[in-house]
Amino acid sequence: MSESNKSVGFTGRLGFILAMAGSAVGLGNLWRFPYLAAEYGGGAFILIYVILAITFGFSMMIAEVCIGRKTGKSCFEAFGSINEKWKWVGWLAALVPAIIVPYYCVIGGWVTKYFVEYATGNAAGVTDAFFTGFITCDLPGVFDSPVLWFLVFVALVAAVVVAGVDKGIERVSKILMPILFILLIIITIFSLTMDGAVEGLKYYLIPHIEDVSAKTLLAAVGQLFYSMSLAMGITITYGAYMKKDVAVEKSVRNVSMIDTGVALLAGLMIVPAVVAIGGSVNSGPGLMFVTLPHVFDAMPAGEFVAAAFFLLVIFAALTSAISLMEALVYVLMEKAKMNRYVASAIVVVGIVALGMLSCLGFGPLSNITFIDGQTFLDFIDFISNSIMMPIVAIVTCIFIGFVVGTKFITDEVESSGPFKAKKLFVIMIKWVCPIGLFLILLTGLLSVFGVMTL
Ligand code: PHE
Repeated sequence: MSESNKSVGFTGRLGFILAMAGSAVGLGNLWRFPYLAAEYGGGAFILIYVILAITFGFSMMIAEVCIGRKTGKSCFEAFGSINEKWKWVGWLAALVPAIIVPYYCVIGGWVTKYFVEYATGNAAGVTDAFFTGFITCDLPGVFDSPVLWFLVFVALVAAVVVAGVDKGIERVSKILMPILFILLIIITIFSLTMDGAVEGLKYYLIPHIEDVSAKTLLAAVGQLFYSMSLAMGITITYGAYMKKDVAVEKSVRNVSMIDTGVALLAGLMIVPAVVAIGGSVNSGPGLMFVTLPHVFDAMPAGEFVAAAFFLLVIFAALTSAISLMEALVYVLMEKAKMNRYVASAIVVVGIVALGMLSCLGFGPLSNITFIDGQTFLDFIDFISNSIMMPIVAIVTCIFIGFVVGTKFITDEVESSGPFKAKKLFVIMIKWVCPIGLFLILLTGLLSVFGVMTL
């Protein structure tokens, strides 16, 4: 099992909450949430997301934490140890980090590049054209290649995993994350005072029902799992390290509030500003990188704030990428009996190979597109978030609801504290989540593939 998790120690509730929040808060909240919210109608997306977070997300997180804590095992053995026939679910879940971490590192590379630009005093050079040139590999300098920064980020993550120094990183990130939160608030205040931001704020906060489609629901569900680190085995492993006397319900509620709070704040910082600067809400993965420089431009000491901001985002992304990579290294070490160096080397090669497609997908490989003109990165992101995670979640619900029984989980929650939302949890896991997820997945896919318009 992951040493990083062991090292966290999870001393008491606070330890668990900080460790889980460290894994949950990452690029998903800061980079992915704002661009989805912008693209899928602002207020409508926010409303759906929040409803899903307090129902589906909360219930799924309770289930995963308890599977881990009760069995004391990581996701590979957890399912099998409860019921041998369901062992494969653990493996299916473990596939998700393998798909996510390569492109996570590509975006980590973009963030690193932006930090370096601001830290070296080149704020004036960070323009919209710079971003486009950068991601399409069109800039002539070696240091302006996204491939280089992708590799730098992979090297950073790998160095931490190989050296087993994640303890230090976790400790630093516990101090840095509250600072990031404060910085987010400051930048948001500035961003909301920009001319035209009020129009953007309306877009972000007022839901328009006509904006809700099957695609919106599918995107919101995928984002929920991604952001809360669900349906990929990671939370099960964290649960395995949670002390038996820590109250599950309260802790999960705290973690999900922190995670959702940071996402909503990041959206507030970016989405109204897009409207203010006259940018496109359909900018996709580039949204944060084209919008924020305009906000920093308008801010006093913006260059300094920008460097601090991107540095903190690097840390948030690092802690998440480390736990994703560690999960993969663990499989090879435990299952294929490899030592840490060999296992890490193989994982790095895999990450570089797969990540390279996403990295080059905006430039040299941009003629290869998928559904609706998706680039490699969008496509891989779609497969993991909108297809695989809902499937893993549906299977987990069926397993808990009908094979082992919800009592397995509710007993575990009650062994360390009250379970106020027990009824909601049971109904959610047995009926609402699996049926709802199935319908969302089905209608979402049909509309994405153009079979149906909803
Ligand atoms: N939840 C993280 C994010 O929002 C992504 C992640 C998933 C990190 C799983 C670790 C493990 O960025």
